[in-house]
Amino acid sequence: MCGIVAYIGEQNATPIIVNGLKKLEYRGYDSAGVAVLQDNRIEVRRDAGKIARLEALIAAQPVRGMVGIGHTRWATHGAPNQQNAHPHLSSNGEIVIVHNGIVENYLSLRDELLAEGAVFHSETDTETIVYLIERYYAVSQNLSKAVQLTMKRVKGAHGLVVMSSREPDRLVTARLGNAGGVAIGRGAGEMFIASDLPAIVEHTREITFLESGQLAVVSRAGFEVQTLDGAKIQPKTQHIPWDPVSAEKGSYRHFMQKEIHEQVRSLSDTMIGRIDFDDYRVVLPDLNLSSERAKQFRRIFITACGTALHAGMVGKTIIEHLTRIPVEVMVASEFRYIDPIVDANTVVLAISQSGETADTLAAMEEGRRKGATLWSIVNAIGSQAMRSADGTIAMQVGPEIGVASTKAFTAPIVDLYMLAVYLADLRGSITAEKRIDLIRDLLKVPTLASKTLEHEGEVERAAARYKDIRSMLYLGRGINMPIAYEGALKLKEISYIHAEGYPAGEMKHGPIALVDKDLPVLVIAPKDAWYEKMISQIEQAKARGGQVIAVATAGDTLIPDLVDEVLWVPEAPWLISPILTTIPLQLFAYHIATQLGLDVDQPRNLAKSVTVE
Ligand code: M6R
Repeated sequence: MCGIVAYIGEQNATPIIVNGLKKLEYRGYDSAGVAVLQDNRIEVRRDAGKIARLEALIAAQPVRGMVGIGHTRWATHGAPNQQNAHPHLSSNGEIVIVHNGIVENYLSLRDELLAEGAVFHSETDTETIVYLIERYYAVSQNLSKAVQLTMKRVKGAHGLVVMSSREPDRLVTARLGNAGGVAIGRGAGEMFIASDLPAIVEHTREITFLESGQLAVVSRAGFEVQTLDGAKIQPKTQHIPWDPVSAEKGSYRHFMQKEIHEQVRSLSDTMIGRIDFDDYRVVLPDLNLSSERAKQFRRIFITACGTALHAGMVGKTIIEHLTRIPVEVMVASEFRYIDPIVDANTVVLAISQSGETADTLAAMEEGRRKGATLWSIVNAIGSQAMRSADGTIAMQVGPEIGVASTKAFTAPIVDLYMLAVYLADLRGSITAEKRIDLIRDLLKVPTLASKTLEHEGEVERAAARYKDIRSMLYLGRGINMPIAYEGALKLKEISYIHAEGYPAGEMKHGPIALVDKDLPVLVIAPKDAWYEKMISQIEQAKARGGQVIAVATAGDTLIPDLVDEVLWVPEAPWLISPILTTIPLQLFAYHIATQLGLDVDQPRNLAKSVTVE
């Protein structure tokens, strides 16, 4: 979690860093701060709360200089107050650090430093790092050497940037493990460092990503990368094709609303370059897969967290239906603890918007350790989950800023659908006619999404009716069962209303006891193979006095007579229906949260990328 930005060049670093931090506020917004080298002295401005408070502080106490570092925090160790805000200074005031990650051995390091006379001013684990650097600097008089030695002492995963008034012509940045990325961007006579690209893409697209166990010394003219043992490394630089405008809110009230609407485009963007229209085939060159190899797969594990996990659950049904390869979907935070049965004919497929989620990366490592083929479906270009996989499908949906994931839920379903068709084609489990039909169905998705969004006004009115509820049940069945989970997750994370998603058939095994006039039940009931069973669910809830909101297919004449509210979706083939049924649920959660006056893009206690275990 946490966002980091740093700058060294000829311009005033402060506004560049503060603007970069604003783009990273989705990573954490408990506190924010900057440190700038002004007249060869480190000046720190930091405060609890959002970046707007930091801006006010800087306006009252301006600071300018051509080298600086900044941080926006999601608290792990220590309360979200001013004292614990980054940057953290060394005791002599000559070294300053911003840090992303957790020092797992910080208690023992703290004891060691206390015994040597260190005085701690915060409750953070980060302070141990800056004091260690200070200690090693006193001996080596070399900032990169001191950072190198410190990185060897700290356990856990880290990304950090260090600045010293004793070496004003450089910044030192390092990465260990998977606590978020470190991206170094080259400008003309200036260099940028950030944990995430949105902070710096408006300045540069020439990006180098540090790998775990690497350190870089960054000056105005360029940078050098080395291992933590000091061996020089020739880094790879990539050109990032990213439109900075897509990281702006535009005319929408919130990023979440913009991203919900962007799905019409993102659903087609994710198909770009993957459909061969000459013979209606899926092409996924980045999977590096031969037909022989595709025939050897015996099992696929899909692993992910949160919303990405729900996309994986939908993918399971699609892949199993088309390829007959058994698919297991596993919460990434559990994968490495349950000794999964993985061998050389197993694929471990990770799904992640950020590509930096610590648990997902750890699950990938477990898959690698056990000899699986490792694939990822990832949005953030150049992220760890993209780099460490044997094959990857980029979501291609542009930056997703709202903490509640929306377009990065529907795009991977399309990617999983394309993957299923691709594998089925290579393995010969579908005919050419079937393949063509499947692709024709897929190509309808953006138009159908657009039709679904036309009903936003009705969803907004339904939200007004239910905004004061305390709790809600979401029910789905078959391929739409994960959409019940996803709808409930959206509601709870941005509106703080308790919600549970359930497979509809489980209702009678317990949850139905909850149903009364105060517990609305949202039933996902499109016209599909499970329609009649969902009608029974509606009847059962109504018989117990429950209020029912149904997601139903346009033209359905039965459901409106049975329920209290209908959220409409257009008629669609069943394999793509979850992409559409999820849209009204995203809108429903969004409008409830906005009507409650809540901070939709930055809900309490959450961060966009969860880079700690
Ligand atoms: O970046 P990732 O897709 O790996 O993130 C996974 C989850 O943390 C994420 O989907 C989270 O559940 C969202 N807040 C859901 O809206």
